[in-house]
Amino acid sequence: MEIRTALTYDDVLLVPKKSNITSRQDVDIATKLTQNISLKIPLVSANMDTVTESRMAIAMSLAGGIGIIHRFCDIETQVREVSRVKRKQNVIIDNPFTVRSDNTLAEVKAKIAELNCTSFLVTDDGKKLLGIITHRDMLFAYNDSVLVSELMTPKSKLITAAQSVSPEEAKNLMKTYKIEKLPLVDADFNIMGLITATDISRNLNNHQASKDSKGRLLVGAAIGVRDGFLERAKALIEAEVDVLVMDIAHGHSINALRSIEQIRKTYPNINIIGGNIATASAAKDLIAAGVQGVKVGIGPGSICTTRITTGFGVPQLTAIFNIAPVCQAAGIPLIADGGVKQPADLVKALAAGADSVMIGGQFAGTEETPGPTLNYKGRQYKISRGMASLTAALSRPDAKEKINQITPEGIEARVPYRGPVQNVINTFIGGLRSGMSYGNARNLNELRANAEFIRITNSGQIESGSHDNEVI
Ligand code: XMP
Repeated sequence: MEIRTALTYDDVLLVPKKSNITSRQDVDIATKLTQNISLKIPLVSANMDTVTESRMAIAMSLAGGIGIIHRFCDIETQVREVSRVKRKQNVIIDNPFTVRSDNTLAEVKAKIAELNCTSFLVTDDGKKLLGIITHRDMLFAYNDSVLVSELMTPKSKLITAAQSVSPEEAKNLMKTYKIEKLPLVDADFNIMGLITATDISRNLNNHQASKDSKGRLLVGAAIGVRDGFLERAKALIEAEVDVLVMDIAHGHSINALRSIEQIRKTYPNINIIGGNIATASAAKDLIAAGVQGVKVGIGPGSICTTRITTGFGVPQLTAIFNIAPVCQAAGIPLIADGGVKQPADLVKALAAGADSVMIGGQFAGTEETPGPTLNYKGRQYKISRGMASLTAALSRPDAKEKINQITPEGIEARVPYRGPVQNVINTFIGGLRSGMSYGNARNLNELRANAEFIRITNSGQIESGSHDNEVI
């Protein structure tokens, strides 16, 4: 039997090319997550319970990437996390703070201090809008016993809009009438919400964020193949999730393929990413089952032990090389999942044919991940754990019955606290932009087209890192 050699990121380097790139800012790193979803940066945060819930997904999407909410919780919790992301950029405040018309200025000042908010809609019955009181109305009011009714801008002078107003229309009204708050009302003047100028400009000016057609942040969610996966898919789709990630350790299995076919049949328009896989024939089968993206990686992850537990896996660069031609021929993006330890690995994955990269361990210690920060020997850490690790398995509801059947394929680890995830993103994107100038690539297609990989020896690897000095 001929045994082939397979390579991973550290086995290779890219040969520098004569470069016409004069500034790292001139390169375009936009990409596709799925056939229908575009990203400004090729980074995806992993669907792990120590990595992606709503806080991480919001940060990823604001940065131009996307986060995939993990599935190791009940359906309600996962739906709530998805909704938190979808509501984040929503410019409408659904339940604005209110005061009564017979409140005194002193009472309003107390509310300002308590709620950290400087303007209030005025209503006596909690429904009908009577006016608005803003910091401008209170500027020269020195008598604390004066009533809101004497200071407010009354209903007759208010500019309002319907709840269906678009961010663009709201901006135009605010511009025309030089107002900072736009109350939303129904035909009976009942309060339906509030739009503020700050939220509008934040929304309209954030061109970097990954947004859906309604201007809301993009978010994905993982589902499995067992225990009511269709019910979970339905609830997530109703919460307007943008993409479902079929999260199976061995994605080239009859269970995974059947589940994908079932979701595709029930929900013809939802984006599905299939995985995880490591071979071209797996990619062909997933694409035939109806996915719009494939996730590649069997065992490369920082907390994975699948390869040493089962003996199966394919070093990640070879897996990408094998699958990329299938994806390119079908027009289906490839997500390289796991094993990215440093920016160079991101560059190599994209040059080998990945369209985006999923990261777990490198994001795991950041501020936005679930879980507390721990102190150990004077340093701060967070926990990263494999979703097939013993502690992850034990935290599932059916753990007690299955305790004797658990063979872990992952570990739990302490990772250094890394501050906001934006810092880590900046490091990766900085490395990618710099790498693209070495590769004379103005965009990711050129990075792939110009890529010339060379295999290096152990001495080459040693030479590549810092050496022969004491790192401080
Ligand atoms: P990194 O290297 O970024 O990899 O931490 C993240 C990816 O690792 C996968 N993952 C696992 N693989 N056993 C495995 O074999 C596990 O317990 C496990 N948990 C996560 C997953 O694909 C993730 O995105």
